[in-house]
Amino acid sequence: MQQLQILSGSWEQFAQDAKLIREQVFIQEQQIAAEDEWDSEDAVSLHFIAYDQGQAIATARLLENNSIGRVAVLKEYRGQGVGRVLMQSIIQLAQQQGRSFVKLSSQVHALPFYASLGFIAEGEEYLDCGIPHMDMRLCF
Ligand code: COA
Repeated sequence: MQQLQILSGSWEQFAQDAKLIREQVFIQEQQIAAEDEWDSEDAVSLHFIAYDQGQAIATARLLENNSIGRVAVLKEYRGQGVGRVLMQSIIQLAQQQGRSFVKLSSQVHALPFYASLGFIAEGEEYLDCGIPHMDMRLCF
């Protein structure tokens, strides 16, 4: 993937692009209820968007408590390394900010994706919004 640009900033700056992607991936594709998708964390998270030639194709957010969440790549752009590049830029920024770890709640199908970035699974599997999840952590 050439031309991939990753920008980060506030919800005010990136809500429009993040909403489009999360609407498609989580609400339409994964059938997550809108009231579960949109929460009060958005206003206080750092948001990341990946752009391919100006088009927003992937997003994620980093919470104040070091949680990475809402990681989503548009379906037609998956399997090309976009998610990896997005996650690497979040990890790099978290390190630059002096955080000592990042953590996330992984959908079970995505465990190998996060494991390939160095995250270690911890605890038991559980259901969130009806989808099997497991906690993962990457210590710096
Ligand atoms: N299962 C197993 N391995 C996977 C995987 C999956 N679902 N998704 C990616 N990988 C692996 C790839 O094989 C690749 O490994 P490689 O570099 O050794 O070939 C590596 O992870 C990076 O893949 P990449 O192409 O960067 O991933 P992506 O751009 O497709 O993004 C997701 C991965 C999970 C973000 C994307 O599939 C997605 O948006 N899914 C829908 C939303 C979702 O489930 N988000 C996760 C919520 S926890």
